[in-house]
Amino acid sequence: MAQQAPTLSSPIAGARFAWLDRVAVPLQQGVYAVFRAGEVGRVAKNWLNGVPLRHRVHPALVAIPIGAWTTAAVLDVLDGVSSDDTYQAAADAAILLGIVGAVPTVAAGLADWVDTYDHQRRVGMAHALVNSTALALYGASLALRAGGNRTAGRALGGLAFGAVSLGGALGGELVYTLGIGVTFLLYPKPRDAYVDVLASDALVEGTPRVVEGTPRVVEDGRVPVLLLRHEGQVYAVEAWCPHVGGPLGDGAFEGLTVECPWHQSCFHLDDGRPLNGPASAPLRTFAVQERDGRILVRPSDEGKTWPPAPAPPRERHGRSTTTVEGETTMKGETTLPTTPTFSQDIRPLFRDKDVSSMLQAFDLSNYDSVKAHAEAIYGRVADGTMPCDVAWPPERVALLRAWIDQGCPR
Ligand code: HEM
Ligand code: FES
Repeated sequence: MAQQAPTLSSPIAGARFAWLDRVAVPLQQGVYAVFRAGEVGRVAKNWLNGVPLRHRVHPALVAIPIGAWTTAAVLDVLDGVSSDDTYQAAADAAILLGIVGAVPTVAAGLADWVDTYDHQRRVGMAHALVNSTALALYGASLALRAGGNRTAGRALGGLAFGAVSLGGALGGELVYTLGIGVTFLLYPKPRDAYVDVLASDALVEGTPRVVEGTPRVVEDGRVPVLLLRHEGQVYAVEAWCPHVGGPLGDGAFEGLTVECPWHQSCFHLDDGRPLNGPASAPLRTFAVQERDGRILVRPSDEGKTWPPAPAPPRERHGRSTTTVEGETTMKGETTLPTTPTFSQDIRPLFRDKDVSSMLQAFDLSNYDSVKAHAEAIYGRVADGTMPCDVAWPPERVALLRAWIDQGCPR
């Protein structure tokens, strides 16, 4: 299979940039230790992640240094061609404003970066180093200007502007290509109708985790839904963490809150609001009805206004899958088990090395994780991007599809 088309950050994945990890890993551990040191660290990280605002802070703050330094670059050009000192004070003030604005910007960037891994972490490290270099160059530029050496000061300012431009481009790569800080739950969209998901008596009242059967993760046909009965009432939220998709069904429950098992974002199950970061977006919530001993869920209003879900891969690519009374067959291929189960049919499809190489995203050895990410896993095996060494034969892909379509039997 051809290599995926490169993007701005692709060269950073190469061995030449492995040294970035040697800087990034200890730095990340240090920053993590500061944020986890106590209540002050936790509250600070929440603010820097934008949890109380339900909006990322770093991308908002970057406007201050980038705006101020862009202004300074224009004023420096005007100063260079001017015969007097008309523009000098304003250029210096703009650089200073950028430096002051960079301080909270860097802090918020660190708070978002601390929960990244692998390539994202490496690119984030490059982004941070390039922008820190720009910051240091602006400091030196300001010192030169204060000492009367304006020409050298302007030259350093020009270099710094080049650095912050590259750093900004890497920042864009972090968000728009690598998806850091992007709400995970935009796709797929839940069904926009009440969907019968569970028998009422299967959701037992009581303290989660202690009473068997509570909480429950079910499917609305497209997305996993986490159900919890609390004081008689059923609450339903999407079971994927909006940070990067952690399985909330495996999280820690306390009253009406759940803590994500991956990076400990915490959410209120009533309205999905984030209580602790790194997630700053709320969980998608579902309206719940109990009728005739059944639980039905439907996305709440906010969910309904989101863009329509893309068609499932089979429909888009015209794969000939037919379902006849629970049996799924592919044209010209082996008949699949009537009811594939995770333990017998699906778990053996994943080798140990598949499990370990995908651990950052999901745990292929764990039923709940595979179920929660079933569509994402299917998408990858269907388009041949997983496993990375050899694509699955069509009958295996069809087996996984059949398992998902039958509600992921355990
Ligand atoms: C003056 C310094 C900095 C500037 C000007 C800057 C600029 C940017 C820009 C322009 C973006 C893209 C935002 C968007 O398009 O939505 C970005 C994203 C990002 N930056 Fe920075 N950055 C700076 C420092 C840092 C530092 C020190 C870190 C820590 C490693 C960092 C981590 C990140 C992360 C993780 C993102 C992804 C979005 C997010 O989760 O916040 N940045 N940055
Ligand atoms: S996936 Fe990161 S906190 Fe949930």
